[in-house]
Amino acid sequence: MSFTTISSHAPVRLYRSKLFVPGSRPALFEKAAASAADVVCLDLEDAVAPSDKEGARDNIVVALNEVNWGNKTVTVRANGLDTNFCYRDVLALVEKGGERLDVIMIPKVGCAADVYAIDMLITQASNFVGRKKRIGLEVIIETALGLTNIDEIAGSSKRLESLHFGSADYAASQRMRTTNIGGGNADYVMLTDQEPGRARDKHWNDLWHFPLFRMCQAARAHGIVPIDGPFGDYGDADGFRVQANRTAILGCEGKWAIHPSQVALANEIFTPPEKEVKRAEAILAAMKDSHEKGLGAVALNGVLVDAASIRQAHVIVQQVKMIRERTA
Ligand code: COA
Ligand code: MG
Repeated sequence: MSFTTISSHAPVRLYRSKLFVPGSRPALFEKAAASAADVVCLDLEDAVAPSDKEGARDNIVVALNEVNWGNKTVTVRANGLDTNFCYRDVLALVEKGGERLDVIMIPKVGCAADVYAIDMLITQASNFVGRKKRIGLEVIIETALGLTNIDEIAGSSKRLESLHFGSADYAASQRMRTTNIGGGNADYVMLTDQEPGRARDKHWNDLWHFPLFRMCQAARAHGIVPIDGPFGDYGDADGFRVQANRTAILGCEGKWAIHPSQVALANEIFTPPEKEVKRAEAILAAMKDSHEKGLGAVALNGVLVDAASIRQAHVIVQQVKMIRERTA
């Protein structure tokens, strides 16, 4: 390990599924509170029409104070720093949102100064009203600028808890030629080389691999958590599963649900499968045994395991322990 240690200042949260609810549809708030989502996100940004912004903000302030959110993490997505709604959102949430609000989400963050500005507003408003609980921050990486500056963003504030990837806005920002929100794109393919007498195979590529990988790397390097964003086709459970499974393997701890039907899918995929948990436990047992015998590397079912395997296994065992504790 480096002499530089990565310390995590963020509270540990269960974050397998994050259900979005438009702030302009208060009839859905109680349903979201009663859902199985680990996190609820009341939205003031893109799910709310410009003419509804003030009303949605009022709805959310009331709901933060009156709805029983149980043991969920409660977050609100504010409007971006390029709008005239952002400062009013942050002030209303901090000054009038009550103590139940856990985290404010900032969309389309482009540089560390964006986070700094919101941190300053939250800090002043919290001190002014004598808030007891510290409000966290989470940001969406969904612009070419944000992805370019992702390291400085990830390290920008002690309030920052997680990075989220927003595929639709990211694609628009980079002028990618796709209208998919997550998921595959049948045109983003490679052809195998030409060979006489042999049909050429198409190999699909994942449009979102690089930004998601980069986000996981930047988040972990700064002791915060990466979360995968939306999958737009909520009728396609198989598509959601496959995408979520890839990002879970990359290191994301959860995924947005833009419809209630995606909550159970996200909870399932972001809970490490029993098979992996058993293998991780077996690795830890085998390594304990081998260390007691003075051995560093041993074979487990014909496969090498060593000290790095212990660290890999710990990731899975710790994650499942937290999930079992929080869902017991
Ligand atoms: N939270 C809680 N409950 C929800 C919900 C949500 N986000 N979306 C739908 N429901 C409820 C409906 O009220 C309905 O309940 P009922 O069975 O008691 O009548 C049930 O789930 C099925 O809903 P359905 O009719 O399939 O959905 P819809 O047509 O009402 O809404 C969406 C579909 C996509 C518009 C809606 O799910 C939504 O607004 N999602 C969030 C979008 C968002 O916030 N996007 C921003 C982030 S990308
Ligand atoms: Mg967006």
